Amino acid sequence: MSRILVTSALPYANGHIHLGHLVEYIQTDIWVRYQRMQGRRTVYVCADDTHGTAVMMRARKEGRSEEALIEEMNAAHQRDFAAFDIAFDYYGSTHSDANREICAQVWGALRREGLVVEREVMQLFDGEAGVFLADRFVKGKCPRCGTPDQYGDSCESCGSTYSATELVDPVSTLSGARPEVRSAVHLFVRIEAMHDFLAEWIEEPGRLQPEVANYLKGHFLGEPLRDWDVSRPAPYFGFEIPDSPGNYWYVWFDAPIGYMAATREWCALHGEDFDAWWRSPDTRIVHFIGKDITYFHALFWPAMLKAAGYTLPSRIQVHGFLTMRSEKLSKSKGTQIFARQYVEANLDPAYLRYYYASKLSSRVEDIDLNPEEIAAKVNADLVGKVVNLASRSARFVEATGLSPEYPDDGGLFEQGVRAGAEIAEAYEAADTARAMRLVMALADRANEYIDRMEPWKLRKDPARARDVQDVCTVVLNLYRQIVVYLAPVLPRLALATERLLSVPITRFADATVPLTGVPVAPFTHLIQRMDPKRLEELMGVVEQPAPAPTFDDDGAALAAEPLAPECTIDDFAKVDLRVARIVQAEAVPEANKLLKLTVSLGGGVTRTVFAGIKAAYKPEDLVGRLVVIVANLAPRKMKFGVSEGMVIAAGPGGKDVFLLAPDSGAAPGQRVH
Ligand code: MSP
Ligand code: ZN
Repeated sequence: MSRILVTSALPYANGHIHLGHLVEYIQTDIWVRYQRMQGRRTVYVCADDTHGTAVMMRARKEGRSEEALIEEMNAAHQRDFAAFDIAFDYYGSTHSDANREICAQVWGALRREGLVVEREVMQLFDGEAGVFLADRFVKGKCPRCGTPDQYGDSCESCGSTYSATELVDPVSTLSGARPEVRSAVHLFVRIEAMHDFLAEWIEEPGRLQPEVANYLKGHFLGEPLRDWDVSRPAPYFGFEIPDSPGNYWYVWFDAPIGYMAATREWCALHGEDFDAWWRSPDTRIVHFIGKDITYFHALFWPAMLKAAGYTLPSRIQVHGFLTMRSEKLSKSKGTQIFARQYVEANLDPAYLRYYYASKLSSRVEDIDLNPEEIAAKVNADLVGKVVNLASRSARFVEATGLSPEYPDDGGLFEQGVRAGAEIAEAYEAADTARAMRLVMALADRANEYIDRMEPWKLRKDPARARDVQDVCTVVLNLYRQIVVYLAPVLPRLALATERLLSVPITRFADATVPLTGVPVAPFTHLIQRMDPKRLEELMGVVEQPAPAPTFDDDGAALAAEPLAPECTIDDFAKVDLRVARIVQAEAVPEANKLLKLTVSLGGGVTRTVFAGIKAAYKPEDLVGRLVVIVANLAPRKMKFGVSEGMVIAAGPGGKDVFLLAPDSGAAPGQRVH
């Protein structure tokens, strides 16, 4: 028998579940419920991701053991998920015996395949806290652009990536101490050995969304894959590597293995065979993840599974990020709403489930949380179109129940049956936005019907009691059909509808047969109108005024080079400054200051420019960047070729040269006025 194993990414145990996380768990839960309603055997597992420096430091700060911390978080996570009707079959923890054992076994396979190598690594060490610093725990000035307060892996200002040891004036965020550079032996997995396999694997139709496969090709598979550093020296909260005492598996090594460990624990509880789930071609494994962790799931993870002889995922479904007023929800900016806050504000989880469903397509797009839009959708669609069908008809047949025969409805129910195939297809593709549109089109037609038939008027004429019953039988059946199609998104509405019409809703096929002759229970409220203010208040709570910036620019640069004599606007207009994109950059070997740049003005127009920036920039960091050039400068013959322009930069020279960069949105060829 074929099976589907579904996972969502394992949330970190160092923080609570917020509305951003819920995009993923709700999307997965909808897909799982849909599969079950098609009668497919589907198991949904997840777990907390417990290891790493963050948990270790938080436990230290709170003066308790890591175990106590992760246990409490696990309970909190499960409670939050339950409040949003996320129906896991099993929820585990990466800090489990099962996980430790499978890690050791996968590790053994990697060793046997000769994929593990050792190498010295320079890493920042915080002498005060006594720990090596993960990139997230060190801040300093960007080594490329000098922006202060940047993390150890990349700069938010110029987007460059670097290693933490390159940061200028680094400071440990744990202790405030200045870290020292220490070397330690790390273990690496040579995933380049799997390059050809992975390049082919990601191209398999249905495996990844096309844009995701393209991203991997463009960013990683176009060049050799770098060895993956999978160990961390003590102290580290995690599993010690059995054949390398004092070293621990990096959290991203044991985290995905947590999917297997959770499955194994579920199997143990249900008398199932683990190998039938992870070593069988009959199992379809489907991972739902956010775009930020694509690289781990689509490259490292399949490489590990392949080396260890396990079933590889059939499909990895990637979603975008929830943003708030277009900012990525992030801890550092304090812009997030926790699941708990939402529940405590008495907001119905159905609102969020429906909103996410109506926004999520099979594309990797961000969703901007907009309370007005959520309320408008919920009130117009769920309350105004769906629930309204039942509230305007159920009471009139409370006494009689539905008609014994299904009346002539002009083909409306049949249309709804036929729409089922397309709705199912949309769910399968995780294109719930499309599924919701299709369902709402059915609701529109049902509303046209009730508006035309006006049962509330018919009721006034005792001679037409049969007509009232027939009209309401049609309306309640159209309503129920819609609810069946919405059941993966709105399980509670499906339950309430079961109670209203005393017939269970379990399969998609329940939408194909109209109910007749069944009793109708007293109508109770199904979904309340949403007041956007409640959600706005939550957003307001987390909004903090930015502290006034202070600047301490000294006058050294101005003193070193006083202002030039005044010029007119016409003088300035003679200089044609243009936005350009660097499309090629190479060092001029014979010149110790020069880089040879090819810049594009768009439309195939390019210029060759020699720039004295070799000491300040690496050629590979320049390709793709926008710069400003003097585009009408008379060509100048130099020793190595003709320079056809000039790239604008500031600074005294040498290492201190700073290219000017247009804000994003500027296009090559635009004139700078
Ligand atoms: N622990 C890792 C995953 C390990 S899986 C073997 C992790 N944890 S996380 O808590 O940061 O995120 C869990 C999931 O939630 C990820 O798929 C992530 O992309 C998703 N999201 C976290 N914040 C999000 C938003 N603001 N918006 C949408 N999804 C977000 O990553
Ligand atoms: Zn920078």
